[in-house]
Amino acid sequence: MGFQISKAVIPAAGLGTRFLPATKAMPKEMLPVVDKPAIQYVVEEAVDAGLHDVLMITGRNKNALENHFDHVSELEETLRKKGDHDKLKKVNQSTDLADMHYVRQGDPLGLGHAVLRARMHVGREPFAVLLGDDIIDARDPLLKRMIEVQGERNATVVALLEVPESQTHMYGIATVEPTDVEDVVKITGLVEKPPAGEAPSNLAIIGRYVIRPEVFDVLEKQEPGKGGEIQLTDALMKMAGAEEWTGGVYGVVFRGRRYDTGDKLDYIKAIVQLASDRDDLGPDLRAWLTEFVADE
Ligand code: G1P
Repeated sequence: MGFQISKAVIPAAGLGTRFLPATKAMPKEMLPVVDKPAIQYVVEEAVDAGLHDVLMITGRNKNALENHFDHVSELEETLRKKGDHDKLKKVNQSTDLADMHYVRQGDPLGLGHAVLRARMHVGREPFAVLLGDDIIDARDPLLKRMIEVQGERNATVVALLEVPESQTHMYGIATVEPTDVEDVVKITGLVEKPPAGEAPSNLAIIGRYVIRPEVFDVLEKQEPGKGGEIQLTDALMKMAGAEEWTGGVYGVVFRGRRYDTGDKLDYIKAIVQLASDRDDLGPDLRAWLTEFVADE
């Protein structure tokens, strides 16, 4: 058995240019998905998997993120005086969630560079990385399963999802071999965003990783890759090729519900899907959607 994993790293330094002008003065991670900022789903997922120590890698313009996970005394006091406990509970939900830490990325040199900024905080333990653009449905726990597999194999574990061939150019794509466990594959190759038609498979890395600390030694020497950025995918490929030292890299194939909030259309779909599943909004939303589609 490996270490008891307790730390989650959440890169949140991106500029969010796909959502301009909404993200001109506000981090994209704060965009609401129904009534919670996207980033809160991700922190809740980490905590649900037992990771109470959360390090966010932020950048300029990201103060709202820190504020969201901190107390807001004036508002709390007002709600308390009014006796509005429901709203007070909503305010406190994100405050009491996790032990939050922040470090700035400095130059935006890529995901691998962002993860390397976690080195001091993480130390020599395996840790999880959660990317904010992906929301995993709380009813389909993925991270817990990945942590379990990490412990059993003392390896690095990434989350994989089968995607249509038309989308492989948007992801890190894995070449795999089966193992004796149905949802676990061994990774023999990884390529970051292969050009259309050149993907070695349709198994895409979605934004969840449980990584051994050797990754920092690899990232430190990692040359820029796709897009001139220091790519986490390239570092993981090296770890897969140095099994005696790193324990290798495995994939957990996810078949549950995942919502992408990374671009506008997917973001709108995520809101509709999550809202239509909720007791307070779902029935009215579904009825309206049916009417709306019929009118169209
Ligand atoms: C990153 C990774 C990519 C992965 C993707 C998952 O890309 O570099 O390998 O497949 O996240 O969302 P990004 O979407 O940040 O460009």
